[in-house]
Amino acid sequence: MGSLTVVGTGIQLGAQLTPEARVAITEADEVLYVVTDALVALWMERLNPRARSLQDLYAEGVSRRRTYDAMADEIMAAVRRGRDVCAAFYGHPGVFVDPSHVAIRRARAEGYPARMLPAVSAEDCLFADLGVNPGAAGCQSYEATDFLVRRRAVDPSAALVLWQVGIVGRLDLAPEGDRSRLPVLVEYLLEFYPPEHEALLYEAAPYPACDPVIEDVRLADVASAPVGRLATMYVPPSERRRPDAAMLARLGIPETHLR
Ligand SMILES: C[S@@+](CC[C@H](N)C(=O)[O-])C[C@H]1O[C@@H](n2cnc3c(N)ncnc32)[C@H](O)[C@@H]1O
Repeated sequence: MGSLTVVGTGIQLGAQLTPEARVAITEADEVLYVVTDALVALWMERLNPRARSLQDLYAEGVSRRRTYDAMADEIMAAVRRGRDVCAAFYGHPGVFVDPSHVAIRRARAEGYPARMLPAVSAEDCLFADLGVNPGAAGCQSYEATDFLVRRRAVDPSAALVLWQVGIVGRLDLAPEGDRSRLPVLVEYLLEFYPPEHEALLYEAAPYPACDPVIEDVRLADVASAPVGRLATMYVPPSERRRPDAAMLARLGIPETHLR
């Protein structure tokens, strides 16, 4: 009758694919995928010869929102043809990915079984490679353009992760990245942090034998730093928030019991 399983491939080629995602890919009637490079595409088509890329739906000058709608349309067209469809996205399929969620909602609304399997996202790799525990001080995670246009509030006592800094200010395809609006991002961040505060520009290794790329720079220098197309920015907390004495008392927690 048609069904949809949405999976993620992880960030590192082959090594981060979960066993359940592998089964979903190999057993699907049709696999529609979005990945970051040609080697990963080749690997997908080896896993399932009925796999085809949705990458061609991206085009320079076309808003990514329109591209994402077109991807969800393609996925749903295959489901409606009665196929057991696997839609595969790099990283985690539900993290900073729209068409996966749209397709699942549409499939369910039309009565098709649809599910999403969890996977390893770039942020998971970042926590591991940079030694960050998001539970230690809390963690804010924003898409860089959304962060600017909505003037998102920042709590400098918590960690900050900014996605898509390599294309900040662009809503269409920028295959080589676009760093031209980084000064705007820096200017906004300096409303919350001192200029000498640390920023880490992070790119997880795409292949098992490679190391991640980590640029450790002053926040004020981010605009002139080598920000890769797939970089994610990590800003550690710049201050420590004192616990609220009244709240501690209400909860019956002695301050000495806190980390
Ligand atoms: C459209 S989102 C896709 C995220 C993906 N679904 C995930 O779970 O990681 C693209 C953004 O993910 C982050 N990203 C993707 N690959 C990365 C990598 N190798 N290293 C660091 N960040 C990466 C970057 O912030 C990039 O701009």
